[in-house]
Amino acid sequence: MVGSVATVPCVQPTAARAADRVSAVSLFKGRFLQVPTQTPERHATSRPASLARPPACLTFSGWARQRGQEAYGGGDGDGVGEWTHERERAVKDDDCTELLRWAAPRLRLRLEGFHRVRGQVCKRLGRRLHALGLPHLAAYRERLDSDPEEWAVLDALCRVTISRFYRDARVFDALRDELLPALLESSPVLRVWSAGCASGEEPYTVSILFRLGLLPRFPRARLELVATEADGALLARARKGCYPRGTLRELPADWRTEAFPGSDTEPCLTPEYRNGLIFLHEDLRARMQEGPFQLVLCRNVAFTYFAPSLQREVLAGLVARLAPGGLLVIGTRESLPEGGVDLERVAGALPVFRVPVSR
Ligand SMILES: C[S@@+](CC[C@H](N)C(=O)[O-])C[C@H]1O[C@@H](n2cnc3c(N)ncnc32)[C@H](O)[C@@H]1O
Repeated sequence: MVGSVATVPCVQPTAARAADRVSAVSLFKGRFLQVPTQTPERHATSRPASLARPPACLTFSGWARQRGQEAYGGGDGDGVGEWTHERERAVKDDDCTELLRWAAPRLRLRLEGFHRVRGQVCKRLGRRLHALGLPHLAAYRERLDSDPEEWAVLDALCRVTISRFYRDARVFDALRDELLPALLESSPVLRVWSAGCASGEEPYTVSILFRLGLLPRFPRARLELVATEADGALLARARKGCYPRGTLRELPADWRTEAFPGSDTEPCLTPEYRNGLIFLHEDLRARMQEGPFQLVLCRNVAFTYFAPSLQREVLAGLVARLAPGGLLVIGTRESLPEGGVDLERVAGALPVFRVPVSR
């Protein structure tokens, strides 16, 4: 269940195999691998021991730093920040899909979520094969069978990191024009959680929208925003706040000029838009921020990539952290899992849901 983790030490460099010395696993020195506590039902399966502990390594910065260059779009055709300097083994799409089909349920992920974006993950798998000196994915599968620590590496390889500012413009238009003004009518403090915030594009979008779209109308309003992310390298980028221009292209032009002045190829956010924001290294499966929040954004993470049972657990956790009347925003290609939660759609076909005022 979300919220409880057991902690076991990660492998030490000296214990790593010779072929791994330069690999991600050898970068785990002094860090801890956190393993979600098993439910009784999961203990009851007859999985091999190596598969019985789908991991969630929460302090992954070394490995993440190594692959952090991909964060701006990797395989979605943006062509921005593509990481090409390390050699990789070619991985056939069919083989990659087959590995994901086998591994995804063991990581409590959902194969279908990777349908459009698996290129990014398959490329990383190619690099991982190269780093381990393995010839093909069948050998990698054997490695996973014999090395439980490798599951944490695979888990991180499976994180799709594509994001951009003002992504799904109509959602942010609705937040600016109707939904957030309605909340600010009743309380001047807007508490927001961006869960799975990538390199900060989503939370900074909210901050820019708040300052330029709402403060002029609600001068007493205050924003308190917490942004969480499982990948330490992405968080470092978020804290830096400088972005390739391609990720800014959907921001309204006047806001872009205001928040990212200058003509650099990687302009940096003006400091005032960082006020009221904190970034935290957290895995959504293991820990959740304390509410209550007026707005939670959980877009293109849980309801795309997580297995249905995990989606339900995460959804219950998110809803429990929303204030009465608070809003949950998910991705435009996502839908909520069936059952159990009492939410109403509030923006037509847009994926914005409200917790009833009395519950
Ligand atoms: C596709 S991006 C979406 C970013 C942003 N929410 C958006 O819609 O543009 C998904 C992000 O969620 C992060 N992520 C994946 N699994 C996570 C988890 N279990 N806990 C926290 N963040 C996670 C990934 O590292 C990645 O940065």
